Amino acid sequence: MISATLEHMLAEARHIAVLTGAGVSAESGVPTFRTAGGLWAQYDPTRLATREAFEENPDLVWSWYSWRRGIIRGVQPNPGHFALAEAERLFPRFSLITQNVDNLHRRAGSREVHELHGNIEHSRCIACGRPYPGDEAPPTETALHCECGGLIRPGVVWFGESLPETELDFAQQAALDCDLFLAVGTSGLVYPAAGLPLLAQRRGAYVVEINPEPSALARQLDECLQGPSGVILPLLIETAKRFRTTV
Ligand code: OAD
Repeated sequence: MISATLEHMLAEARHIAVLTGAGVSAESGVPTFRTAGGLWAQYDPTRLATREAFEENPDLVWSWYSWRRGIIRGVQPNPGHFALAEAERLFPRFSLITQNVDNLHRRAGSREVHELHGNIEHSRCIACGRPYPGDEAPPTETALHCECGGLIRPGVVWFGESLPETELDFAQQAALDCDLFLAVGTSGLVYPAAGLPLLAQRRGAYVVEINPEPSALARQLDECLQGPSGVILPLLIETAKRFRTTV
């Protein structure tokens, strides 16, 4: 199932970069966006995931994120998340970049996670930018207000907004520097994240997709491992462990 090149990379690569998408959390029970029955098949993103939508109907948007937080808090990381947490201790350099806002990588033990689309638990004031205190957003159905009077928004990136600059810079540098790049559980349709696997490939990295269905990028990548990440990632880590010891 794993090619000789990938096995060689798992044994020898100096720097491995991984980009995860919603699919890595699917086996935990977190809904994806674009698969059949996914969030964007049921809900209109223009009414829920833009700044304009929030300003127009803050309670609707806030309560939708409260609902999603409830799902996320009620699930557990799966073997794919745990395999990536182990990878951090196995390879000399390992960069974990995620489009997910669900905290499951950290809950699985990953110490360094680069979140391109923010984090659903990190809320902040839309007016003054002050973070809302505490590790978890309150589970209210109505939008909250900051001391300054501004509305509190979920700390996620909405359509039409820029990605956090430091995280995007980190991700691009990792793509430029790595020898092996894994694109895991992402449809490859949302940029700039979707540009990272091809950026890595142009700089000479070996780029592998892990997904039960071929993504929009699959045909351009070097190898596609078709299957759930909760099965394939542990397999890759077991392979790497035949050659490497945990650092
Ligand atoms: P999508 O919902 O677009 O794609 C999920 C991908 O996961 C699909 O390609 C599935 O085939 C795959 N998948 C499903 N089950 C899987 C499993 N068990 N193992 C591995 N892969 C599996 O999600 P993303 O690509 O993450 O942005 O979407 C990117 C962004 O679009 C999201 O971060 C979100 C959304 O709009 C914002 O909210 C800013």
